[in-house]
Amino acid sequence: MIGNNKAKFVAGNWKMNGDAAQLRTLTSEIVADLGECNNVALFPPNTYLWLVREILRESTMGYGAQNVARADNGAHTGEISASMLVDMGCRYVIVGHSERRHTYGEDDTLIAAKMQCAILSHLCPILCVGETKTQRENGDIFEVITQQLTVGLAHIPFPQHIMIAYEPVWAIGSGKAATPKQIMQMHEVIHKWLAQQANECKIAVLYGGSVNADNADAILSIPQVDGVLVGGSSLKSSEFVAIAKSACAHY
Ligand code: 13P
Repeated sequence: MIGNNKAKFVAGNWKMNGDAAQLRTLTSEIVADLGECNNVALFPPNTYLWLVREILRESTMGYGAQNVARADNGAHTGEISASMLVDMGCRYVIVGHSERRHTYGEDDTLIAAKMQCAILSHLCPILCVGETKTQRENGDIFEVITQQLTVGLAHIPFPQHIMIAYEPVWAIGSGKAATPKQIMQMHEVIHKWLAQQANECKIAVLYGGSVNADNADAILSIPQVDGVLVGGSSLKSSEFVAIAKSACAHY
């Protein structure tokens, strides 16, 4: 698993929030409280990567981007490539987040190309998978997730330096996290699928969707959960630090 050898991983996805002053304060408070924590990573909007890089210069904490281009250079107006992210010191990149899938129309094939670009640049991609409320109600959830994994990882030779984040769409930003039983069932399916690709590979599977300081400990206690991908609660330093401290107590 990636992180400080043993501790579970905690990623803070700030999405499209904050300005330079707010994010400077947030980053500084997180670093001051957590110090050396290489099992924690921050995902600011791209325009503030330089700022996080500056503040984390002396820290082992990682950072990354929320998205990446499907190509590495050339005529791709508005896009940012994996090698540019590496140049900015990124260690990680989130790929296929549900907001990219559902608001910006990204499909599994495009996501697979982005995964490949990230791997080729030696970034650690975090591939997000998750079902909608309707898919859950229809009982298709395991097929949906297996399909997202199969196509999204089609070009990835195993074992590989990647992580998977299970983020049920209905749990994101809803204040209603999946139950420990729902999380455990899906993580088990994902771990089994990964093990079929390569027996030896230990790929971290994170959970995301309304994780907060109150429910983090219960979620991180689930043996099949290797960490959490936190949205709203990563924008409050005290909440995020509490989640990260809880992760350090679980391995
Ligand atoms: P929330 O924690 O706000 O539900 O967001 C989860 C998420 O989308 C992280 O990528």
